[in-house]
Amino acid sequence: MIIAVDGPAASGKGTLAEGLACHYGLPHLDTGLLYRAVGLAVADLEDQPGFEEAAIAAARALDASHLQDIEELTNARTGVLASKVAVIGPVRQALFDYQRAFATQPGGALLDGRDIGTRICPDADVKLFIQADSKARMERRARQLEKRGQVVDRYALFHQIEERDARDMANPHGGFYKADDAHLLDTTLLDIEAALRAAIAIVDRTMALKAGH
Ligand code: C5P
Repeated sequence: MIIAVDGPAASGKGTLAEGLACHYGLPHLDTGLLYRAVGLAVADLEDQPGFEEAAIAAARALDASHLQDIEELTNARTGVLASKVAVIGPVRQALFDYQRAFATQPGGALLDGRDIGTRICPDADVKLFIQADSKARMERRARQLEKRGQVVDRYALFHQIEERDARDMANPHGGFYKADDAHLLDTTLLDIEAALRAAIAIVDRTMALKAGH
């Protein structure tokens, strides 16, 4: 079984994806980490000549060893760098192959990101599109960062999320929209347990329908 989970920054898709992968015993790939690792590799060249070429080379050289420093990869600044490399076509192409290989491993997989249901796994068995309003997303991300001991400027964080949303929505190579056959789950008013229960119900129902029950 392949499950695709998409949604905007801090929509709760990462936590939900982890819970679903654990529930169904599927290997999980957080595809945002790939873009973040590429962004981090070229941070010194941000907004300078050579940024694109360096990002393409970093994407082609990417392997699992670049995905270890979760603290550095998941900070807000790296999210902005990720959205800057994510608009470069050849970067997406290099990461496409990595994601496809993960998705098609025997036994299935769960991938979360922005374009999983539209571009990476249009053939996924179940597609979920997670959304939540911008303020709720900012507050969740702020609490995550605070839990890690980081000091959070909520105003700046809100703008970073909006900036990232805007760049993502304008991404010409994106596909950052809900696939026609994706199930919409709005988590604005749900805590993680309720959101996970709702997502499991969607997956079970979809798989039962597919099996003809
Ligand atoms: O999901 P996360 O917030 O970690 O993603 C960071 C950035 O990576 C996104 O804002 C987006 O620009 C890019 N991304 C992407 N395609 C994906 C996952 C993430 O372009 N499948």
